[in-house]
Amino acid sequence: MNELTPPVCDYEGSDYQQSFWDSGTRAYEDAVEAIALRRLLPPGGNFMLELGAGAGRNTNRYHHYQRVALLDYSRTQLEQARARLGASDRYLYVAADVYRLPFVAGLFDGATMIRTLHHMAEPALALAQVHRVMRAEGVFILEFANKRNLKAILRYVLGKQDWSPFKPEPVEFATLNFDFHPKTVQRDLTALGFAINRTLTVSHFRVDALKRLIPLCVLVGLDALLQWTGGVVQVSPSIFVRAQVKNQDQTAEGGAIFQCPVCHTAIPGTEQDMVCGGCGAAWPYQDGIYDFRVPAE
Ligand SMILES: C[S@@+](CC[C@H](N)C(=O)[O-])C[C@H]1O[C@@H](n2cnc3c(N)ncnc32)[C@H](O)[C@@H]1O
Repeated sequence: MNELTPPVCDYEGSDYQQSFWDSGTRAYEDAVEAIALRRLLPPGGNFMLELGAGAGRNTNRYHHYQRVALLDYSRTQLEQARARLGASDRYLYVAADVYRLPFVAGLFDGATMIRTLHHMAEPALALAQVHRVMRAEGVFILEFANKRNLKAILRYVLGKQDWSPFKPEPVEFATLNFDFHPKTVQRDLTALGFAINRTLTVSHFRVDALKRLIPLCVLVGLDALLQWTGGVVQVSPSIFVRAQVKNQDQTAEGGAIFQCPVCHTAIPGTEQDMVCGGCGAAWPYQDGIYDFRVPAE
């Protein structure tokens, strides 16, 4: 019953939010991602799933949704998110693996996955889980790192890089850090039953020298202009797609939110420790965070 799933890039105890975002050196990336999200998010929604939410850097950007479930494998990232966003009914904090989502099918009408596919050795397996927990016509916004970016193309052409940015397979440039070919991600999404209806290219000027020399507002404005070109050609390091859920006939009913990540039995109730009625596995709820991480065998 306890299927083997791919390895997780574990952020437990990491100071990612502080060292990567709060240090001030990524203000450009944060601002252009905010613009892309504004352009892709629907005007409103009921229940959003934020996959790989980290410390909740983006969560306030989903304010049009009535509720947001923040899911991350790292409990310490979720603790930071909870400290930042608070213990409101609006937020559900869930420690779990993207490959084993502990939610009943057809639950969410929105989902985002930003800077997280990047850590997936089996992206199609992860995306299949996202499709399962979403309802028909739900909107999924996916960001992924593009291997066919201008810098990689130039380095390859000049002989400074041995892997080809044009080949469809992902490149693992560091352990559990992957860049993907845009066509491969599009193919996986489509095969799973997502219909892609918009693509934006983002972070075109992610070059330290440019970020030092050119005022932030100018770089952000230029990026905002170029994001639309993503519908035609994609050579930026980051790509955002908006995909709509098709081929989904399940809609969550009866009020259950969770299902056992091991045996897939629905688990009623919230805000308490839970025991699966199917296999007896225990899933703790502590300090406002549900823990559905399956212990290693
Ligand atoms: C680079 S951070 C991005 C955080 C946030 N989305 C942002 O953009 O600020 C990637 C996050 O994905 C989480 N993550 C990686 N693999 C995961 C998995 N298999 N299941 C759940 N979360 C995962 C990590 O714990 C980490 O918080």
